[in-house]
Amino acid sequence: MFDFDNIIERKSDKCRKWDHQFVCSRFGRVQEDFIPLWIADMDFTSPPAVIDGFQQIVSHGTFGYTYCFDQFYDAVVDFQRERHHVNVERDWITLTYGTVSTLHYLVQAFCLPGDSVMMNTPVYDPFAMATQRQGVTVLANPLQATDNRYQLDFSLVESQLKTHRPKLWLFCSPHNPSGRIWTQAEIHQVSELCQRYGVILVVDEVHAEHLLEGEFTSCLAPGATAQDNLILLTSPNKAFNLGGLKTSYSIIPDSRLRQRFRQQLERNSITSPNMFGVWGIILAYQHGLPWLDALNGYLRGNSHYLADAIHTHFPDWKMMTPESSYLAWIDVSSGGKTATEVVNHFAHRASVIIEDGSHYVQDGERFIRINFGTQRYWLEQAIERMQKSY
Ligand SMILES: Cc1ncc(COP(=O)(O)O)c(C=O)c1O
Repeated sequence: MFDFDNIIERKSDKCRKWDHQFVCSRFGRVQEDFIPLWIADMDFTSPPAVIDGFQQIVSHGTFGYTYCFDQFYDAVVDFQRERHHVNVERDWITLTYGTVSTLHYLVQAFCLPGDSVMMNTPVYDPFAMATQRQGVTVLANPLQATDNRYQLDFSLVESQLKTHRPKLWLFCSPHNPSGRIWTQAEIHQVSELCQRYGVILVVDEVHAEHLLEGEFTSCLAPGATAQDNLILLTSPNKAFNLGGLKTSYSIIPDSRLRQRFRQQLERNSITSPNMFGVWGIILAYQHGLPWLDALNGYLRGNSHYLADAIHTHFPDWKMMTPESSYLAWIDVSSGGKTATEVVNHFAHRASVIIEDGSHYVQDGERFIRINFGTQRYWLEQAIERMQKSY
């Protein structure tokens, strides 16, 4: 029904992932026939229903100022209920201009320079940027890789919370870059610690829709967390490939926290939304689910393909099993080269662009990250080139 094998020409669409000029500015000079397996952007067109809906808006031809109308709130409430089995009240929802900018506003709203913010490293690097740019300190809590799967070290967490009293804990669930899905018991323990030490728990669930192995628990699931210190951030951007619309939303059950956050948004004039962003959420959530289910099947196939290929051609490497998302996190340390050497080698000798784990705040230095949210053809080509050049 949906053809995810269909190759989409992207070199001319000015996306960062495929744009030759952009890629050279980031990775140094690479050949024009490069295969990009880096930034978390997939190579599939969005669901047909989303494209049709946008086409209708475009043919109507008026692009005036808009607002968050009822359909937007209904779409979010229904989606969260049907997909994640959680009850969200519409007052809890606030539309924002992307999860990354929201992280910046949250740090501005709840921290003062000199405060600290906890995060579990390695982690998506804008968590640290959003913190440091406000003069706030990153309190890194390293994840422990046990049997090639990340675990939270709760005793270290507790001692860090006790000593440093961070204002926020930015918790990535599921985790980027490893794709680890946290269990309800783990999320509960995180929440309890936040309650005990007076920390606001900010949960980033943007990778919650690509579920490859196991089951996802939302932080809003009954019994998972206390809700009076909880801020959930999410969007359909990863799920439906809408990142360029730069629109997302937060869910904040507690009215006091919500008020403080909204005041910060008003200070920055984050008010009237982007028309395509609002419609993107409505169209994707109301009509995109069959496409999303089919896509998850395709991504699962890619994940298995990649795991087999790594096992066969790069037996020294250890790939964590991606339980969610379309990102493979691979420990290359026993291959005798640093991760930076490995990615540079592939960029310049195989024209395959992958990311070096050292970008992920800290504790990612032994890893590379491969984006498999692409047609199987590109993965096969990339593996062939990598294997030949290595
Ligand atoms: C954990 C995480 N949060 C947020 C984002 C980006 O969200 P947005 O595009 O809404 O700013 C990403 C993108 O890769 C991500 O991995």
